[in-house]
Amino acid sequence: MASARIGARALRDLLGDWRNEAPAYEGLADRVTLLLLDGRISSGSRLPAERELAAALELSRTTVAAAYRRLREAGYASSLQGSGTTTALPHGRSEEPAPGDAPISFTHASLPATRLLTGVLDDGLIDEYRSHFGSLGYDGVGQPGLRAAVADWYGRRGLPTDPEQIVITTGSQNAIHLAARALIARGDRVWAESPSYPNAFDSLRDVGARLITTPVTVDDGWDLDTLEATFRRSAPTVAYVIPDFQNPTGRSMSVRDRERFLEAAAGAGTTVLADEATAELDIDRGIRHPPLGALAGRHGADVVHIGSASKSVWGGLRIGWVRAEPQLARRIAAGRGATDLGVPIFEQLVAARLLPKSDEVAEERRAQLREGREVARSAIEELLPDWTFPARLDGGLAAWVNLGAPVSSQLALAARARGLLIAAGPRFGVDGAFERYARIPIAADPVALRRGIELIAEIWPSVRRVTRGELDYAGTVA
Ligand SMILES: Cc1ncc(COP(=O)(O)O)c(C=O)c1O
Repeated sequence: MASARIGARALRDLLGDWRNEAPAYEGLADRVTLLLLDGRISSGSRLPAERELAAALELSRTTVAAAYRRLREAGYASSLQGSGTTTALPHGRSEEPAPGDAPISFTHASLPATRLLTGVLDDGLIDEYRSHFGSLGYDGVGQPGLRAAVADWYGRRGLPTDPEQIVITTGSQNAIHLAARALIARGDRVWAESPSYPNAFDSLRDVGARLITTPVTVDDGWDLDTLEATFRRSAPTVAYVIPDFQNPTGRSMSVRDRERFLEAAAGAGTTVLADEATAELDIDRGIRHPPLGALAGRHGADVVHIGSASKSVWGGLRIGWVRAEPQLARRIAAGRGATDLGVPIFEQLVAARLLPKSDEVAEERRAQLREGREVARSAIEELLPDWTFPARLDGGLAAWVNLGAPVSSQLALAARARGLLIAAGPRFGVDGAFERYARIPIAADPVALRRGIELIAEIWPSVRRVTRGELDYAGTVA
């Protein structure tokens, strides 16, 4: 997410290839709107002065002034005499669906609650909840029962764990942020995959990380040669990695990838922040990898694990955790007071009852994700022949689909106008790349998934037409 004041060059990089067949002021305003709506620019950010942006984009100042006027008129910016133009979100506008609009949302890759959830909401749970009423009811580390259940879960997966190593958090998003804050100082270099989970980029930037990335692709996975060279050269403080069913590519590291990655991290003195929130979402990978840290000892790498009940049990519980060495776990817990004082007890009691059933939950998820994958694949193959659905997608929540043309932001804007929310590909990168990609959530409700893809197919011919490359080729645009 961009900071409060955006420089002209930074905005130019964020804008990417923003021109379309509309007048320039309109195309520019529309692209800024999209950046604002999908979180790449935050509300309240000060835009560059008209003259500076005009110079950076090689436009006339009148064009930039007209674009800013258009933003103001639509409520996406405001200007105060002498203090420039500041972005704003008109009431109710964001990536969240507005109540009553009933749009289809492809922006979240999440499943509804497991069927097993109802089964644990019994009198025993209420009695247990009541038994806590005489206590304070919250603390920085989490309920002993849930910490023990999480520690057991790691043990069953091949990484013996003491409950002392577990800190319960508000979803794994909070876990990423708390771990990042404990491990990273302002200005530290931090490695991440590109593309990756955008809210993690936001957390890492928030603690002052300078992000460096190397690629992971749908077809080839992690580019470990480049990664090893990057680690040797840059010695990042932290490496944030999603080893299983990576968001958004869906790829998983092979055993060999894991070995090379851990060796590179150990060699560079880099602490690995392994986000395993999606690790249980296997459709037909056919191999269950232990948590990354189970292999780390051989290489001497430090691995801090991030986990979550959101993807398996339910995102609505907001239960996640960090697994770290006891001393670091204590430091993480001690440092959280500035942002939160702990996690609601009821949800922790629920999660503690469901974690032991994780194999049963995984079977349910497997069936749901398999159905979503087939619905998405067949709808795309039938209706969007320009697109390439991943040849191999054996788990995870989403498909990283190649659109065949650099029009993802145009697509996101056009889709929004038709009631479909979808994050543009560049939201998953750090430097405006990925205009050729969109993330299609296979976790979405199958009927909404099919309908959303049908909607895209309806607008696709007009979106496809505006690619500059094609217009250049046709000779209609200089
Ligand atoms: C890779 C990854 N990590 C973390 C999260 C955060 O999820 P939660 O805070 O619900 O656990 C997500 C959510 O989409 C994710 O995809």
